[in-house]
Amino acid sequence: PRPILLTRHGESMDNVRGRIGGDTELSEAGKVYSKKLANFVEKRLKSERAASIWTSTLQRTILTASPIGGGFPKIQWRALDEIYAGVCDGMTYEEIKKNMPEEYEARKKDKLRYRYPRGESYLDVIQRLEPVIIELERQRAPVVVISHQAVLRALYAYFADRPLKEIPHIEVPLHTIIEIQMGVTGVQEKRYKLMD
Ligand code: F6P
Repeated sequence: PRPILLTRHGESMDNVRGRIGGDTELSEAGKVYSKKLANFVEKRLKSERAASIWTSTLQRTILTASPIGGGFPKIQWRALDEIYAGVCDGMTYEEIKKNMPEEYEARKKDKLRYRYPRGESYLDVIQRLEPVIIELERQRAPVVVISHQAVLRALYAYFADRPLKEIPHIEVPLHTIIEIQMGVTGVQEKRYKLMD
């Protein structure tokens, strides 16, 4: 069996301000997480010479990967970028509720299918992840995937065999590694919470 390690990026400045989307840098706590993650990954994948680190193209995931040494190749995938909130990118949930109440309600009613105006839905994200999943399945070596909340919900659901309708509600907390082991007897999961 070989592990797939899934993690969100370290806390970003937008996370601190409650703003969705964007492309901000890491907060102080986020920087601490990036170092703890590097330690964990370097130990966990010590003798795994073919392992690789996959990020999105957004700086918060690239910065989270940056302290990881060990010579592992780092690969950026646009398909791992966070769900794009279109006209709502950069807003807080409160601002959306106040300024675009119909949009807020529509999303609450059907979070899986709801598509942000000029943005994406969960179903859109699930579809664009297909090439990533195919490549993850082909890999024989461990992969560390550093991505975002919505994307990791979809990836996790694929490996953990969770139903489509649950995807937008799966808990994928910050500063936690989800380790998935693909073995002959099925999929096993461990969670490592590296920080509070
Ligand atoms: O708040 C962090 C974040 O990654 C946003 O960038 C993104 O819009 C959101 O989470 C996705 O979660 P939800 O679908 O629950 O709004």
